[in-house]
Amino acid sequence: MSTPARYAHVTGWGRYAPSQVLTNHDLERMVDTSDEWIVSRTGIRERRVAAAHETTASMAAVAGLRAIRTAGIDPDEIDLILLATLTPDYWMPSTAALVKEAIGNTRAAAMDVAAACSGFVYAFATAQAYITSGMAKHVLVIGAELLTRFLDYTDRNTCILFGDGAGAVVLSASDEPGGGLGIEMTTEPQGAYMIWLPAGGAKSPPSAETVARGEHYVRMEGKETYRFATRTLATTALTSIQRAGLEPSDIDLFIPHQANIRIIEAVAKGLDLPMEKMFVNLHKYGNTSAASVPIALAEAVNEGRVKVGDRIVIVAFGAGFTSGAVTIQWTADPARGVAGDAAVQPEDVAVRLPVDWDSVDPIPEALAEIMRRPGTVDVPLDDVVPGEQGHAPQEVPA
Ligand code: ACO
Repeated sequence: MSTPARYAHVTGWGRYAPSQVLTNHDLERMVDTSDEWIVSRTGIRERRVAAAHETTASMAAVAGLRAIRTAGIDPDEIDLILLATLTPDYWMPSTAALVKEAIGNTRAAAMDVAAACSGFVYAFATAQAYITSGMAKHVLVIGAELLTRFLDYTDRNTCILFGDGAGAVVLSASDEPGGGLGIEMTTEPQGAYMIWLPAGGAKSPPSAETVARGEHYVRMEGKETYRFATRTLATTALTSIQRAGLEPSDIDLFIPHQANIRIIEAVAKGLDLPMEKMFVNLHKYGNTSAASVPIALAEAVNEGRVKVGDRIVIVAFGAGFTSGAVTIQWTADPARGVAGDAAVQPEDVAVRLPVDWDSVDPIPEALAEIMRRPGTVDVPLDDVVPGEQGHAPQEVPA
């Protein structure tokens, strides 16, 4: 593009959640916990678990294609793919590169973004910068996680919190005012080891010893993380809102990272806003890290919680400690999302595997019995997103 467009609008959105449900009652049979404890301390009732044939890339590709269909563009019109994840398929290549091939794009640059649960917001802000600088016209921004393969199902502090899924948006260049406005991003490295995954990297390469020590699982200091989140989320959102020239009372809906209902309540309190302004779906999915904000965003729009002209804020915190927020003026027809979702089914998308390589069974032993339950494959979309209206396949308007 010769002249930089001034605005980056959300034109497409989509999400994907695996069909297999892991309930609090399932977890009661694994660790010393209770549905009552989990619901009262976190708000989470169930989460999704990816099937053996699914990966971060495959879930990301489904969500990404749904966002592209919602935007009404061809996959090859995407100039840049940014994929936020802390659970990539491999150390290399990037998961974004695998997604590029799976969605049938030949042109885009593709890279992963590592900022833990803030990753999608960081990637969104990066996409906005690419668009407003004139370097890209359409950017596909994805948050995708397969956390259930990195959890210790004997550690009740962590295994109850996380789940799998993917969400995506398409950001498109326009001279019309609206779209992404104020951005705020922070990183506080003094919290670096409050949520971390010790082994597998250069400091502690994977070995029989690291596995025996359980260092390939997520570790977390819950209380410290909680303190950081409640301290930071409201101020990060506020700075983003002020950079957009607005006040918190001007915001129609907040889409916060879905980690813990008490953290979201603290954000509402910190901004002096009622909980009705906070979108919450963590009871269904748990914490899906970088996927949580885009899943929540797509769900909020498809449920009719966002109208053209509304101002919304996406805000997240995560390992690092990172936090990020973007204030967005919504301009797309919300009705497009349901049709975009219905237009792409998981079986339509394939991520190519290397020739002559048999990977090990990826399902953690603790989840194997649950994954053998009947009805785990080919669940229709209305079961993937319970209660949603109008999911019959239909033509997506151009
Ligand atoms: N079931 C039952 N009891 C439990 C469980 C469980 N699953 N987990 C902990 N407990 C016990 C503790 O052992 C403790 O018992 P004790 O008093 O006998 O020692 C008691 O419950 C209270 O534990 P706390 O840690 O004080 O519980 P808290 O109210 O702080 O809730 C929680 C813990 C839910 C983890 C909370 O601190 C939290 O949500 N923190 C933020 C975590 C988070 O959001 N992480 C994601 C970050 S995003 C990213 O980048 C990945």
